[in-house]
Amino acid sequence: MLESDLTAIATDVVQAALALDAPTDPLLRPCSDSARGDYQLNVAMSLAKRLKKAPRDIAQPIADALAAHEAIAATEVAGPGFINFTLAPAWVAARLSACTDERLGVPLVAAPETIVVDYSSPNIAKQMHVGHLRSTIIGHALVQLLRHVGHTVIGDNHLGDWGTQFGLLIAGLEAKGGEIPGDDELAGLEQIYKDAKKRAKDDEAFAEKARAELAKLQQGDPENVAHWKNFVAITMKSLEAVYARLGVEFDEWLGESAYNDRLEAVVEELLAKGIATLDQGATCVFLADLDESAIEGALPDAIPKKLKKQKSPLIVRKKDGAFNYATSDVATVKHRREVFDADRAIYVVGSPQALHFQQLFAVMRLLGEDMRLEHVAFGQILGTDGKVMRTSQGESVPLRMLLDRAEAQAASVIAQKEEEGALRIADEDRERASAVIGLGAVKYNDLMKNRTTDYRFDVETMVKFEGNAGPYLQYQVARTRSIFEKAEREWPTSWGAIELGHEQEAALAKVLLRFGEVVHKAAETCQPHLLCDHVYEVARAFSRFYDQCQVLNAEGATREHRLGLTWLTGRQLETGLQLLGIEVLDRM
Ligand code: ARG
Repeated sequence: MLESDLTAIATDVVQAALALDAPTDPLLRPCSDSARGDYQLNVAMSLAKRLKKAPRDIAQPIADALAAHEAIAATEVAGPGFINFTLAPAWVAARLSACTDERLGVPLVAAPETIVVDYSSPNIAKQMHVGHLRSTIIGHALVQLLRHVGHTVIGDNHLGDWGTQFGLLIAGLEAKGGEIPGDDELAGLEQIYKDAKKRAKDDEAFAEKARAELAKLQQGDPENVAHWKNFVAITMKSLEAVYARLGVEFDEWLGESAYNDRLEAVVEELLAKGIATLDQGATCVFLADLDESAIEGALPDAIPKKLKKQKSPLIVRKKDGAFNYATSDVATVKHRREVFDADRAIYVVGSPQALHFQQLFAVMRLLGEDMRLEHVAFGQILGTDGKVMRTSQGESVPLRMLLDRAEAQAASVIAQKEEEGALRIADEDRERASAVIGLGAVKYNDLMKNRTTDYRFDVETMVKFEGNAGPYLQYQVARTRSIFEKAEREWPTSWGAIELGHEQEAALAKVLLRFGEVVHKAAETCQPHLLCDHVYEVARAFSRFYDQCQVLNAEGATREHRLGLTWLTGRQLETGLQLLGIEVLDRM
């Protein structure tokens, strides 16, 4: 891949030029001032002390030696000792020509792993809310990225389908004479739950009944199991509609209930190993009080420093005997080890659960589990006013409503663009176009941000055909297709060699060359925004190229190579968007 290959070249050059005994990291970075070069090496400054020389005196022999390499067109020593260099067009062209296959030059990882991505994971008897939207979008992108680089990926929807809410729901349903109120059954269930929760606060007999119903359910009472199944089925219908709309499919739907049989054993093991203790009737893990070296089979440094000061415990069994969220999470990791033989598990869950996952991961390491466990956290979606989103009744906003809003905005922007003559959508495609553009905009807008930041859900800024937005990128893909149509050429599945002449051709090519590395980095670090940055860069470089270089009116080999660049741009944008879970339209 580009940067790692350049690093290897520079490492050799630096070692030879300075006659070092051992290789040293050349500290390659993209040039901070792109007018001065493509990349820079910062190694001269870092070696100055060791070599007892001025950085510029170290930089000069490196720059001279580097200039002799076939990959490099020119070098320059700048400022205190930065080594700037430009890539040689012939070298760039040769590498680019190796990126025109089906995989667009994206290599497969040398050591594929089995990775579970735990994402979406909404709760039964509740509508999906905005937090689950982010988990679904980010998780889906990660599944596709990791799979694309060659890992075996299991996308698992860890539904919240077990726990105290079911006791309240069953007792509440009975109080309503067994009828779910209203036309929308899921909204009806939410209502029952809300009412039951309120009533349980000051009606001790009712609260007691709810607890008894829960215990009955957990012991497999047929009537309560039937109620529970019905709640699950009602919720699933609504979930499936959302997933179909978003184009998301899961490999597994192993909700909390799937681990019910393991919970007892989990608690026993934690007690037996001295990891958990009884505290006022509840079974708890107090990480701050534990010494990992005293626990048999624990991994070294199982408990990170910051948890050694954490007073609040991880509760694995409540004093009424019920198991909880944490207990099923421990069981889930065990299942993923035993059944999937997973090397890594990624939890795509909002930042507020950070402590839960830190504690869970520490407990797993105390149990000797060496699976790589990662909490891929994300920030909140806020309203346009920058506050937590609420409906006018003060309730949390159902996800469906947000998607509707984005699609409606897409429909209105499409209509406006058509009126301006900037866009043409065939009548029969109009409905699909609003969905592809509206939902693509929602997804891109979510993924383009560093995931830990909060953002405002503003359909006006996300449904845009200019600037860094989903519709702009979808439009650029369609534009590359339409260039081929005008050239009366089929859209091919691969391309041969591409040569570079014009400055803007080379500039576009250098951006395109980064694709493989970006895909790998986005996958490995769970940062889809790196791929968003890249596709946007590609689209901008393509625009500059198309502004300055005739494609359709060029002749002979030049026309062919420019068509090749256009094709590769289209394929890379389309593949990048597809990895992010964003559909494209052939024609716009
Ligand atoms: N159902 C949980 C919630 O809505 C998220 C579950 C995340 N996954 C996990 N293994 N804990 O907050």
